[in-house]
Amino acid sequence: MRVAGLISGTSVDGIDVAVVDVDEGIKVIATTTVPYPADVREAILSVSNAPAHAATIARLNFLLGELFAEAVRSAGVPLESIDLIGSHGQTIFHEGEPVEFLGRKIASTMQIGEAAIIAERTGIETIADFRPSDIAAGGKGAPLVPFLDYQLFRHRAIARVALNIGGIANITVIPAGAGMEDVIAFDTGPGNMVIDALAPPFDRNGERARAGQVNRALLEQLLNEDPYYHREPPKACGREQFGAGFVHRTGIDVATATELTVRTIALAIGKYPATEEVIVSGGGAHNSYMMERLATVLKPRITTPAEFGIDGDSKEAILFAVLAYQTHQRRAGNLPSATGARNAAILGKVSYT
Ligand SMILES: Nc1ncnc2c1ncn2[C@@H]1O[C@H](COP(=O)(O)OP(=O)(O)O)[C@@H](O)[C@H]1O
Ligand SMILES: [Mg+2]
Repeated sequence: MRVAGLISGTSVDGIDVAVVDVDEGIKVIATTTVPYPADVREAILSVSNAPAHAATIARLNFLLGELFAEAVRSAGVPLESIDLIGSHGQTIFHEGEPVEFLGRKIASTMQIGEAAIIAERTGIETIADFRPSDIAAGGKGAPLVPFLDYQLFRHRAIARVALNIGGIANITVIPAGAGMEDVIAFDTGPGNMVIDALAPPFDRNGERARAGQVNRALLEQLLNEDPYYHREPPKACGREQFGAGFVHRTGIDVATATELTVRTIALAIGKYPATEEVIVSGGGAHNSYMMERLATVLKPRITTPAEFGIDGDSKEAILFAVLAYQTHQRRAGNLPSATGARNAAILGKVSYT
């Protein structure tokens, strides 16, 4: 079955598309990224964790549906050959950990990019809204990528960690000979999000961080004071913790933000000393200074999904193609060991054509 996967991550940089043939194995047919127009990115950031009118959110939801549908077209694969779309959408709010709300404990998440529009414009059945199903099952709604990491990277004799450095950084720990239930996955902390806020749109190749000075006192303070880094998984974080508020409150600079990302990734991977290989994907893999720092502080060999025939920038788009396929087959797509859900759940909602 040919499935198109769509996602825009927490960096809000643009829509990643992957067209994948999914049956026994996973064969990637085409990938592309369609950057958001600057004003659209601005509008998304302005409704993410900021007071916003419901009208703005509703309009953005439908506008993003149009942009996601156009992104499928731009992959250059005839629409008639695509059987199914899996769209993650754009997260504008994620709170996987329940909070006290109107007398109840509520965990919640919101992804926008209206699937009814995507299905109507492309003529292709579209599955979207994957995360709420996991939250309904008692999970944190994230991370979902371990499902794919396990399929792509598991090895009988080699212990591996898949590291994705997006807006937030996350790892999937796959011990040698692991079964699915042995996989551990969690967000390590900020990826590029804090850096992007300080050096918009991003610190190309880490040049500003390389030229800057790490504020050691601030770094140690942040590492020691935030209980998040020291908490046991499952755990997930987002723009709520590391968005504009964090930048403002801490007075952090680009060099220190880059080192914070590196050190918190190293802290997380260091908890799994058997790890022999770290497979790095996401936009942060293009930050050559960050990669140099990671190579210095990490013991395991560093590699990329390219070694496994996968484009590292498209891994999450591939994931949502694979998850849509799972749902289409009435099969679960979450890993309870990763999200903390009580049970495996069939993820998403379907817009038929
Ligand atoms: N050449 C580069 N140098 C430094 N950072 C880069 C480079 N290319 C991409 N990035 C970073 O990657 C981010 C996008 O990564 P991505 O994996 O798409 O994240 P997300 O999943 O959060 O959207 C950009 O916002 C930027 O911070
Ligand atoms: Mg992105």
